[in-house]
Amino acid sequence: MAVHRNQNGSITEQFKADVDKGLSAPFKFLLSRYFYDARGDKLFQDIMHMPEYYLTDAEHEIFSRQGADILRRFDAGGSFDLVEFGAGDGLKTRILIKRMIETDTPFTYRPIDISDDVLAALKFDLKLAYPDLEVIPEHAEYFTALQNINEQSDRKKLVLFLGSSIGNFAEDRTRAFLDALSSKLSKGDTVLIGFDLKKDPEVVLRAYNDPAGITAEFNLNVLRRINRDLGGNFALDRFKHYPTYNPESGFARSYLVSTRTQDVSIEAMNKTYLFAEGECIHTEISRKYDKPQIEALLSNSGFSVKEHFTDSRGYYVNTLAEK
Ligand code: AVI
Repeated sequence: MAVHRNQNGSITEQFKADVDKGLSAPFKFLLSRYFYDARGDKLFQDIMHMPEYYLTDAEHEIFSRQGADILRRFDAGGSFDLVEFGAGDGLKTRILIKRMIETDTPFTYRPIDISDDVLAALKFDLKLAYPDLEVIPEHAEYFTALQNINEQSDRKKLVLFLGSSIGNFAEDRTRAFLDALSSKLSKGDTVLIGFDLKKDPEVVLRAYNDPAGITAEFNLNVLRRINRDLGGNFALDRFKHYPTYNPESGFARSYLVSTRTQDVSIEAMNKTYLFAEGECIHTEISRKYDKPQIEALLSNSGFSVKEHFTDSRGYYVNTLAEK
């Protein structure tokens, strides 16, 4: 199989290093950020439309019903920057943008995403709908974008981190992200973060174990990507998607389980990795919180919670907190 090369002709070095590290570890792991290539983006769109995946509907409901309250509580007091980490298709943000435009609040929208395609489409769509809206996209990884968040302008900021994306960080990264964000923001700047709440464990588990197998395909996509980009020979039908949820810790974790003893070789590393029957590759964390945990997390990083906006089922929360 051919090794996929990027525009400079070099193998994607970071991907290669991360895969080698994960597959050489005593407990194998792969990073969920590698789910998202063009196919993975499409699968995630499909997931957001699944009836079992309540997170999207919940956040949409909060923005539709409580968008005006959220903006009132933010109280820009003049022109400001709306910064969004992981903007994606910006569908939910558009509800807020529409309201801000209706209320004549002057602002610049600064969406940040790791996908250039996604940003271009978002800018195009918004320009069509709101020709006067200033949109300044930034193509960057979250931690990189954080570093210069304050260099763009000295206006007040509302920073959005939606969709429970914070739940995909490992615990130390969550803390590091919020600490770095807090250190770069000024007093009075505000964050609006989407957290998935602890709830009936069966409801959570179903969201990551849909009967149509879309979430399984989403997880397996990382193996497909290794095959394509690094010249791997993973046989996808020899790995099974295995989602778990621990209602005490709130950690939903997904694994790919090797259904037999097998070797997998990857050309880019010139290495073979051995899998025992039943051995797992940990692929994703999707953490669920309760409100006291959210408050502690934010206050440890120097934010004070102004208000939790919860959906009618109490499944999900968008928390507004001020530096
Ligand atoms: C993007 N992220 C918040 C999703 C989640 O719920 O953790 C990704 C996902 N993984 C499986 N289904 C959806």
